[in-house]
Amino acid sequence: MKHYLFLNASTREPGHVGNTETLARRAAQALPAEAAQTWLALVELQLPAFVDRRHTAGSYPMPEGDAKRVLDALLDATDVVLVSPVYWFSVPSPLKLCLDQWSAWLRVPGLDFKARMAQKRLWVVATSGDRAKAQPMLDSYRLCAEFMGMEWKGALWGKGGAPDAVLADAEALAAAAGFLAVA
Ligand SMILES: Cc1cc2nc3c(=O)[nH]c(=O)nc-3n(C[C@H](O)[C@H](O)[C@H](O)COP(=O)(O)O)c2cc1C
Repeated sequence: MKHYLFLNASTREPGHVGNTETLARRAAQALPAEAAQTWLALVELQLPAFVDRRHTAGSYPMPEGDAKRVLDALLDATDVVLVSPVYWFSVPSPLKLCLDQWSAWLRVPGLDFKARMAQKRLWVVATSGDRAKAQPMLDSYRLCAEFMGMEWKGALWGKGGAPDAVLADAEALAAAAGFLAVA
């Protein structure tokens, strides 16, 4: 059974739904009823600062608290959907911090994080002001997928701005209906 994990990287305040989530929820509406969905707002989670211990201790303990929650959600998913606005032409900090944790999780003895993640597919839903200038962020995600051995499923982009701005992007809304629907 398919299980989609939506990792929302917007930093909108609680209760304020951003454009990227709006677009991702449109895409999720097209999923079959039997596909499970988990939505996590990274901004509501307390991930620890990442410390590079690759060339000192060389390994990391199993994460705890919210980091373990994200790890478990990733491992439970068949499909990871990064719900990511573009911040400064790049990856928003909540998601960057999360991705940095992956470097630790690669080195948790017995976890086998890379081999397990390599069974999964990676999708991106993004919004920003300018599609062309979103490309560096999208390329970063594609390269992350490649590094992890995950199947890259591509990106859905919409024109964002103030909340609900993306509802005026008819092309994005039409693309959303078919984005996750591809097998
Ligand atoms: C800190 C910050 C940096 C941003 N940087 C860019 C950018 O580099 N390029 C761009 O087109 N839009 C940029 N934006 C605009 C957002 O990408 C846009 O409003 C997006 O739709 C916000 O997503 P959300 O509504 O899901 O939170 C930035 C917004 C913020 C808050």
